[in-house]
Amino acid sequence: MTVLGLIGSSCGGLDIRFRTELAAPAAARGWRLAITLTPTAWHWLDAAGELGGLAALTDLPVRSASRLPAEPRPHPDPPVFLFAPASANSVAKLALGIADNQALTVLGDALGDPAVTIVVGYQVQDSRFRHPAWRRHLDTLAEAGVRVRRLEYGKPWSDVLDVLPASTE
Ligand SMILES: Cc1cc2nc3c(=O)[nH]c(=O)nc-3n(C[C@H](O)[C@H](O)[C@H](O)COP(=O)(O)O)c2cc1C
Repeated sequence: MTVLGLIGSSCGGLDIRFRTELAAPAAARGWRLAITLTPTAWHWLDAAGELGGLAALTDLPVRSASRLPAEPRPHPDPPVFLFAPASANSVAKLALGIADNQALTVLGDALGDPAVTIVVGYQVQDSRFRHPAWRRHLDTLAEAGVRVRRLEYGKPWSDVLDVLPASTE
């Protein structure tokens, strides 16, 4: 099975939709999930009682914290990443190369590697496009080969799974 690095950040609906509209459908399509959450996303999913359901979808640990130096790396290097839902905050940090949590560390390490496919599905309010740096962040990621899509309000997040390459590739 091909490993999919599934990265989640703290966007509205995460506590209900991350498992049902992203993780479970991705697993059903044959991906082996390596799930990494931002600290806030972990907190939200923990509070919602969702972490156990996520863990049941994969043989790899669901993680948020970094490992200790003496510990082995808990996830293999995925050839494909799906960062969804991606918050404005985390998109900006990824574009700038900021890696102040485990989710952004794994994405930042993979960004620009031509052997790795990264899909970013971001969810932001329309007002985010008034921020002077926002479009530049999206352009930076696209220029690095990232497949950047907006998660539209009212549409299932699982639509973004169609942007991934086939899991057997
Ligand atoms: C209920 C709630 C819903 C939110 N929804 C979004 C969202 O859809 N998109 C977004 O960019 N930020 C949203 N935020 C703000 C982020 O959670 C906040 O910017 C956070 O610092 C992002 O951290 P992270 O990117 O490390 O997960 C929301 C916050 C709350 C409390």
